[in-house]
Amino acid sequence: MKSPKLVLNNILLVSILLFAISDIKAQSREVLTLQKDWKFIKGNPENASGTDFDATSWQSVNIPHDWAIGEPFMIDGDGNTGKLPWKGEGWYRKKLEIPSAYQNKRIFLIFDGVMAFPKVYVNGKLVGEWDYGYNSFSLDVTDYLNFGGDNILAVHANTTEHDSRWYPGGGIYRKVQLLAVNPIHVDVWGTYITTPIVKPNYADVRISTSVQNKSASAENIKVEQVILNHLGKEVGRTSIFGSILPGKNKDFEVTAQIANPKRWDIESPVLYNAVTTIFKNDDVIDTYETSFGIRTIKFTANDGFHLNDKRVQLKGVNLHSDFGPLGVAFNERAMERQLEIMKSMGVNAIRNSHNVAAPELLELCDKMGLLVLNEAFDKYDEKANITKETDFDEFAHRNIRNFVVRDRNHPSVFLWSVGNEIGDVQNNINNGFKRLHTMVNYVNKYDPTRPVTLVNDNMESANLRHFDLYDVHSWNYGRRYRLARQLEPNKSVIISESASTVSTRGFYEFPLPKVKDEFTKSLQVSSYDLNAPEWAEIVDDDFMWQQDESYIAGEFVWTGFDYLGEPTPYFNEGVKKMGMTDKEASRSSYFGIVDLVGIPKDRYYLYKSYWKPEETTIHLLPHWNWEGKEGENIPVFVYTNGDCAELFINGKSQGMQCKKPSSKISTERFRLMWNEVVYEPGEVKVVAYKEGKSIGEKVLKTAGKPYRIRLTADKKVLKANGTDLSYVLVEAFDKAGNECPLANNNIEILLDGEGHIAGVDNGNPQSFDAFKSNFVKLFYGKAMIILSSDFKKGKTKLTAKTNGLIKDSVEIVIE
Ligand code: GAL
Repeated sequence: MKSPKLVLNNILLVSILLFAISDIKAQSREVLTLQKDWKFIKGNPENASGTDFDATSWQSVNIPHDWAIGEPFMIDGDGNTGKLPWKGEGWYRKKLEIPSAYQNKRIFLIFDGVMAFPKVYVNGKLVGEWDYGYNSFSLDVTDYLNFGGDNILAVHANTTEHDSRWYPGGGIYRKVQLLAVNPIHVDVWGTYITTPIVKPNYADVRISTSVQNKSASAENIKVEQVILNHLGKEVGRTSIFGSILPGKNKDFEVTAQIANPKRWDIESPVLYNAVTTIFKNDDVIDTYETSFGIRTIKFTANDGFHLNDKRVQLKGVNLHSDFGPLGVAFNERAMERQLEIMKSMGVNAIRNSHNVAAPELLELCDKMGLLVLNEAFDKYDEKANITKETDFDEFAHRNIRNFVVRDRNHPSVFLWSVGNEIGDVQNNINNGFKRLHTMVNYVNKYDPTRPVTLVNDNMESANLRHFDLYDVHSWNYGRRYRLARQLEPNKSVIISESASTVSTRGFYEFPLPKVKDEFTKSLQVSSYDLNAPEWAEIVDDDFMWQQDESYIAGEFVWTGFDYLGEPTPYFNEGVKKMGMTDKEASRSSYFGIVDLVGIPKDRYYLYKSYWKPEETTIHLLPHWNWEGKEGENIPVFVYTNGDCAELFINGKSQGMQCKKPSSKISTERFRLMWNEVVYEPGEVKVVAYKEGKSIGEKVLKTAGKPYRIRLTADKKVLKANGTDLSYVLVEAFDKAGNECPLANNNIEILLDGEGHIAGVDNGNPQSFDAFKSNFVKLFYGKAMIILSSDFKKGKTKLTAKTNGLIKDSVEIVIE
């Protein structure tokens, strides 16, 4: 029997079959990603869920979609949430044609995230709703559908009751899938794979499969598990028989043994695949694939974190869920690129601050060998209208269930966090410890194999011993971990937020700040990496504490990328205190190691020099274009994995500097600084040494006037899938080929061929130019154009031009 394909909007969509192992298997389960042909309106028109409502005038959109990101900035708006109009209500509608041959199937919708408080209607009837904008949820819509006819899916999203400390976006911002299965099927996120025994010569793989019986009778079934290695070769097979009552679900649990298992590790992230097949008699009625890894994890009291019995120092970053000019609309390539940039600096771990992440983040981290501190909530997510304790229990249960059950097969996940800086919980106010207990218990209920933590900021709260309820001390900033560690030395420590150093790419101010939180009215932060808000610290301090205190498992820098919102110190109240107005507040953060479009700030090289000592890093700052400052002092810093370096200005040595590994002044351990350098135009050169041998040199020259534009695309071949991206860096050079570090030309973008400009920006937290535009200004010599594929194949030529400069073009193939 061949099953007909689902037809949506009269277009035959080729279903994305999860299990293309054989034809028979493919018939049993279909998964369609509902990407195209949605209608959207901002607002709340009457009867928008109704079947006879006419939505033809609504905007046509693809999902994922962020309703605010392409809109003009609200200059007087709230910088903390990005000055974009994300607050409001919106509706999405889509026509679904379900063939009558699906009459006996069960149909589910799986939403990975709707901002916020989504209500889902099918054919005018409310099917379900969800109370947490960052979580995935699924709905069984079978009983609401017309089989053999049209159906109207309508989704209402409402951010008016949602509060946020950063830009949360709005609308259906992660993917939506339609799942068609037989009445007896593996539940949504229905497998749980653990590896209770891992030895060099064998591993036990325990697979528990939750099976639903939505048929009218009890059935005898066989659940078979086939384990494939990374080459697709079968390495294990086992099965179990059982009966399942109508209307019930049942766990079918087996253990398979694998000989000589290859470990999942950050160096070699080897993945296995479990193919689960349900048979009734000899017929395949469902197949389901689960990717998993075999590895061991352990926190030790005094020697940090161990992966596969080896210590791994966590070199982590916090990442928010926005993609700069693309907003929060999930894009797999944008996510992958963020991770690539972080990895290139030596990062081995990610903390998804502070809410349930898109599932693709975990898939990418599995594949790329990145560990994940997987976090569920931030401090203000009590906004889910929880008033009574029973409500909290239900809220926590349903959200933690989906969070853990969805993510627990990912080998990358090494630690669950139930929340970030939740004041009441840390301080045991309003039943805080009871809530903590509830959350931790639900995590343990669904995954007893991984440790759990709570991320804290109030150091004194350690006296209340909340850490007795979870496994690892996690503290943000300022060595606040000390008290907890002193009170409970048997638990390891994670600096869950380190640094919070702030800077603007390419911007330098003199003299150097005397204290870390000295900020000027420039609305930019000097890039000498010496500034941090009052509660935070500079990069080097965290390096030093970790060197000196070997029980610390590692750090997660706040943050890897700049993000929309939280523009400390130039948030609205901050600029007002400095005598300015709301208008002056910035739109995006200064915390990132790279800017909003992923261009490295100086700090990137400081981290790389320490985190990736096996690669040569020699980075010089600042730039050498200081017209008008001749004869004045311009400090020069060098970030290198070498231990010493000599600096030359126009050939004259400024002396050799060496790192001081036992200095109590952290910067002296990790950077080389010439604080008194007299500026003269020309050439600044540094030669770096390691153990007495030169490892290379770096030269910066005073650049002349901008002469030509250069475009550099990170990808020249894109998939015609409507979402693949090429990030095209725009830079200005002088006639002699030197980078122009001050260029601020307004660049016009011309596109000839397929694809479209998905967004543009230059990383300036003070830029209020629209992200969707054919123009972008260079900011300290650089800007980014993000080109997206559509669904059509072809070539495209992207040209960047501006008056008086030689233009440049880049050709991109979409296939
Ligand atoms: C922390 C908080 C983060 C971010 C950071 C900025 O206290 O957990 O979300 O706000 O401060 O330094």
